[in-house]
Amino acid sequence: MAQVAYSQLWDEIEWVEPSWEPAFLKDRVETYYRERVEKSWRGGHIMRGRLPSAASVLLQSNDYLSIARHPTILSAQVEAIERAGNGLLMSAVFLQGDQPQLHLEAEFARYLGSEATVLCQSGWCANTGLIQAIANEYVPVYVDMLAHMSLHEGILSAGATARPFRHNDVDHLERQIRRHGPGIVVVDSVYSTTGAVAPLAEIVEIGLRYGCVLVVDESHSLGTHGPDGTGLVAACGLTEQVHFRTASLAKAFAGRAGLITCSERFADYFRCTARPAIFSSTLLPQEVAGLQATLRVIRDEDWRRRKLHDNACYLRDELTRLGYNLASQSQIISLESGPEPQTIVLRDALESRGIFGSVFCAPATTTNRSLMRLSVNATLTGAQLQRIVDACAAIRKEVDLANWASTRRKPRPCPLLS
Ligand SMILES: Cc1ncc(COP(=O)(O)O)c(C=O)c1O
Repeated sequence: MAQVAYSQLWDEIEWVEPSWEPAFLKDRVETYYRERVEKSWRGGHIMRGRLPSAASVLLQSNDYLSIARHPTILSAQVEAIERAGNGLLMSAVFLQGDQPQLHLEAEFARYLGSEATVLCQSGWCANTGLIQAIANEYVPVYVDMLAHMSLHEGILSAGATARPFRHNDVDHLERQIRRHGPGIVVVDSVYSTTGAVAPLAEIVEIGLRYGCVLVVDESHSLGTHGPDGTGLVAACGLTEQVHFRTASLAKAFAGRAGLITCSERFADYFRCTARPAIFSSTLLPQEVAGLQATLRVIRDEDWRRRKLHDNACYLRDELTRLGYNLASQSQIISLESGPEPQTIVLRDALESRGIFGSVFCAPATTTNRSLMRLSVNATLTGAQLQRIVDACAAIRKEVDLANWASTRRKPRPCPLLS
């Protein structure tokens, strides 16, 4: 029956020139070029500046522990490709028995002190899938306004009501819960735009007091924070209290996957309920083998974490001394230049001195709060750190630092220190 209908439709299709676009699509694309490329970026492109040279200092990668070319990890990946090729090419819902991915999930669970973990294709899939699997139209979701877009997307796909609370504002969170009742509290441990750290102990205390489920995205703290890199929830002693930890393994783990900590019972429910888990193929053998080797490197090579935090701390202190008002308390250090044209000036000033960060702008930030993110890593040398500091000192007039809104805002307190 369906086939007949489709073939009739096919006959009725009126063939058009491939270059033809319906007005609704044309309008959207034209609005992008008019409003963003022409008006805001003045004909340039905010995310495409100069190309770095071999001598440039690169601060764009989330490979915080500098392990993307670690020989042990690379040989594990090569061995897996040679042994298993591209594997089974199917959804993880079908995995059973002796599959390496199931062993790796058990290893991650032991590492993270949870009953189980589920591996997903990305942090995006972990977050959208999890929220979709635990929220619905009757459950309010209290989400920090700066939480990662994948969490907001999960709320949308669950058909749930987002009850956003002001960034890191625990009083606002509590007022929202008192008003709308128990639900799900969703935060990042380290915020990917500014590098700010969540006041996890207070958030967890409030959430549990009001009978909420707690979700913490540890994408920027797994591997980098806590004992053996087990994350900020573990560092704060909250492993038993937080229902779900999620993470992208494309940051400190330098791979391409996502992860959720949960109970055994929930893991099977998730695999058979979350749409990204069912309707998208699972990890490749070399990704699983690479992550297995990475987990050992991350557990064993503590010196990388120490070096990362020393480097980040040094840079935060020096930039603060130069007058940059940083929200960062982590390895993500953002220079909050504000409006997009101002961020382009900042980008060019830094790149002309060989310093390459990442521009974050709408929709990753609000339009007037774009910024340059500098991601610190463990193997930056003293000389490279000095080059960053010298460049940031030299550009202050050129980028009009004194008049940035962030410069005039008062410095923010650090939850890790208070
Ligand atoms: C906090 C946070 N959560 C989730 C993600 C999504 O991770 P992935 O790149 O693995 O999809 C990111 C990456 O941008 C992130 O920064």
